Amino acid sequence: MARMKVAALISGRGSNLQALIDACADPAFPAEIVHVLSNVAGVMGLERAERAGIATSVINHRDFADRVAFDRAVDGRLRSVGAELVCLAGFMRILSEEFVEGWRDRLINIHPSLLPSFKGLHTHERAIAAGVRFTGCTVHFVRPAMDDGPVIVQAAVPVHPDDDAETLGQRVLTAEHRCYPLALKLVASGLAVVEGDVVRLRSVTAPQNVTLNPTDEL
Ligand code: GRF
Repeated sequence: MARMKVAALISGRGSNLQALIDACADPAFPAEIVHVLSNVAGVMGLERAERAGIATSVINHRDFADRVAFDRAVDGRLRSVGAELVCLAGFMRILSEEFVEGWRDRLINIHPSLLPSFKGLHTHERAIAAGVRFTGCTVHFVRPAMDDGPVIVQAAVPVHPDDDAETLGQRVLTAEHRCYPLALKLVASGLAVVEGDVVRLRSVTAPQNVTLNPTDEL
């Protein structure tokens, strides 16, 4: 079985990257991580990649005149390492339309809310302030608008009355670490395909419950 060649873009801690690395350690998993690229040097995510024997590189956005120039350098590196799919895993840069369209339907992201609610930063603070009873995480194909694009997998997580952003964030993060490998598996195996503005799961034997995701099944 040819495994899909995946590159990950990171900026920091890399706990979602670790979840992907762990999933790819199974030879039966339909994807392998061939490269990890960070825009910040010295971050823990780079250490995680190196520990797993994955090639890494750092491209510092500060070394470029503008966003498009930085994105072109990233694009060049991704193509030179043979990436077929790019996973954003805590990559804290907004990508240009040119980059996003160049990787259309081959670029996925994880976001710590139930999109389309709470796009952007500080999702847990905003969920608590809004008084929602559930929040969660979303893995989606990336479109040029921020935190926009067809949903692949979501998980709902309850908001407890005594939560602060940290306790809620930890609960959501645990769900993220389940959702991202599942989404990658669905995409890499061809079970999740984009049709217009939505992702269809191709097989009835695919885990249909991933669109519902009761917390107790995570
Ligand atoms: C995660 O919460 C992810 O959803 C968001 O950035 C955070 C990255 O955390 N996009 P980590 O680097 O994967 O630990």
